[in-house]
Amino acid sequence: MSDVLYFNGRFTTTDERVLGVEDRGFQFGDAVYEVFKFLGKRPIFLAEHHRRMESGLRAISIPSPWDLARFAAVAGELLERTAFDDGIVYVQVSRGEARRAHFYPDDMTPTVVLYSRSFPFPDAAAKERGIAVVTTDDLRWRQCQIKSVNLLPNAMAKKKAQRAGATEALFISDGVVREGASSSFFGVRGGRAITHPLDEHILPGVVRERVVQLAQADERPLREEELHELDEAFITSTTMGVMPVVAIDGRAVADGRRGALTTTLQRALDEAERGPDSPG
Ligand code: PDD
Repeated sequence: MSDVLYFNGRFTTTDERVLGVEDRGFQFGDAVYEVFKFLGKRPIFLAEHHRRMESGLRAISIPSPWDLARFAAVAGELLERTAFDDGIVYVQVSRGEARRAHFYPDDMTPTVVLYSRSFPFPDAAAKERGIAVVTTDDLRWRQCQIKSVNLLPNAMAKKKAQRAGATEALFISDGVVREGASSSFFGVRGGRAITHPLDEHILPGVVRERVVQLAQADERPLREEELHELDEAFITSTTMGVMPVVAIDGRAVADGRRGALTTTLQRALDEAERGPDSPG
């Protein structure tokens, strides 16, 4: 099925081949991306996604194509043109298209892409069942706070998880649990939620930030050996929300069932997503 696509100022569908082969996003991974969720055609946490995209663009010196108001207007029009009410929007901004060379011209025009897509968000049964994860070496670069399109280590790690019968891979480096390959990670000990502090080792997850506030979580490094001393564990992301982690490397987390704090946070996040989301 074709999806509604916004490309460099006009609307089309994903049936149209729009990208030039010398786009730097394609050849150099010279681009950042975002994924936001919409419910009833309403973008969720749009201001937070915009803010993170702006900081990623700034970090790699790509001029931002939109302020928040313009971004919200484009997203709004995309969703109006979309045939379904709930789903996700993928956004990508690359440095643009130019003759292939490592040295890029200073006056490039960014390539801007948004498209909407339906998405099978986890239902109540899946949210109760939870997922299994496996740990893996963190082979990513040293600026993981930038939501860069260079996701090869993430894709390799997730394939490894899938082959092991798990859903997510947890990145470990220097004996510390960083985050999931496409999610933030939380452990619970003694009733307190714990998650990695914001630094260059993790993406500042939009849902992570909400959950840190809702749970008043401790932002501190979680050691790998603590993984087997947790009362509960969960991941967070735009697509999965708050998802219980019930097994790590084939060992059950506590009794292998969704924990009480995880359940409370799932409800609180659902409420936050339903609530007013004024831009700004
Ligand atoms: N991924 N960490 C990584 C490495 C991620 O790729 C993601 C999200 C997150 C969670 O971020 P947020 O709460 O803002 O979704 C953490 C998106 C959904 C993706 O790549 O599809």
